[in-house]
Amino acid sequence: MVQPSPALPWNVRLFVNSLAFLVDVCRRSNGTFNRTLINLLDSKASPLSKPVKGLQSSDVMVDKSRNLWFRLYTPLHHAAATDLPVIVYFHGGGFVLLAADSKTHDNFCQRLARELPAIIISVNYRLAPENRHPSAYDDGFDVLKFIDGADFKDRRPANSNLKRCFVGGDSAGGNLAHNVAVKAAEHEFDELRIVGVVALQPFFGGQERTESETRLARAPLVNVDRTDWMWKAFLPDGSDRDHAAVNVFGPNSVEISGLKFPATMVVVGGFDPLQDWQKKYYWGLKKQGKEAHLIEYPNAIHGFYIFPELQESSLLIKDMRDFISNAF
Ligand SMILES: *[C@@H]1O[C@H](CO)[C@@H](O)[C@H](O)[C@H]1NC(C)=O
Ligand SMILES: *[C@@H]1O[C@H](CO)[C@@H](O)[C@H](O)[C@H]1NC(C)=O
Repeated sequence: MVQPSPALPWNVRLFVNSLAFLVDVCRRSNGTFNRTLINLLDSKASPLSKPVKGLQSSDVMVDKSRNLWFRLYTPLHHAAATDLPVIVYFHGGGFVLLAADSKTHDNFCQRLARELPAIIISVNYRLAPENRHPSAYDDGFDVLKFIDGADFKDRRPANSNLKRCFVGGDSAGGNLAHNVAVKAAEHEFDELRIVGVVALQPFFGGQERTESETRLARAPLVNVDRTDWMWKAFLPDGSDRDHAAVNVFGPNSVEISGLKFPATMVVVGGFDPLQDWQKKYYWGLKKQGKEAHLIEYPNAIHGFYIFPELQESSLLIKDMRDFISNAF
């Protein structure tokens, strides 16, 4: 019998089980999501208006009409260095839940900013089902244009280097990172240059059921029942999971071989039911002639990175640091 998950500290197991439970009580069979309930349970963190352990953060509004804003993390110890990479980051949550100020992702982004180090721009994109595809992709792309533009010029951290910009994200955020990078590759920016994509356990899928989806049907957090629901909530009415946004190298995929698509780091966990889709993504990039790096952590569950107590979470920071320092 296959184990659905590795040995996990009790607090990690409790957290992932609670999050899965929460998703299940908030998602309704009619395709809507109980925002009142999720907002009660998704605890939020304020920005670090005073520096904490060499890091400051603030929230920057991009477009009030759609509540598009980002949390900007600036490491201060490195103020002398004028060339910190900038990572435009998209949080996970199945396109449906969590936010840039959710404690889970605020903690993770603080860690990335301090430990890489890097300027992190964590995007509060619009969520489904209230805002379906392509709202979140538009929001991500608009943030890139905003930080490249005149409105942000005076507020840019002095130690940031927009010519070394990355787009990254976890789970649904990894899907966003890819799709936003595709849009960005077709655009002429003023100063900003995207030199890498960091896709942490990106949420991809398709109509087919993969071997890992079946074998790890009882894994923590992710199962096909939940992911099918998320895709339905995210995609326009009448689409199936072979939509180009989901099955990026599937039957309806968009050709990217002619695009200047940046180097991509794909992180995969051995206990993640989505791993087969993530490997297909990696091989798809290779087939289109793109630089891609597959990083596998055999003992990692989906969402491992938000738990600093898991060994892979520290490994990830080291692997990201290596990827970032080699991408130009
Ligand atoms: C879906 O169900 C919820 C709760 O039962 C209800 O409040 C809501 O109006 C329904 N929405 C639609 C679009 O059917
Ligand atoms: C959302 O969930 C809460 C708690 O279960 C419930 O009291 C409330 O009626 C739900 N709201 C809607 C609109 O379904």
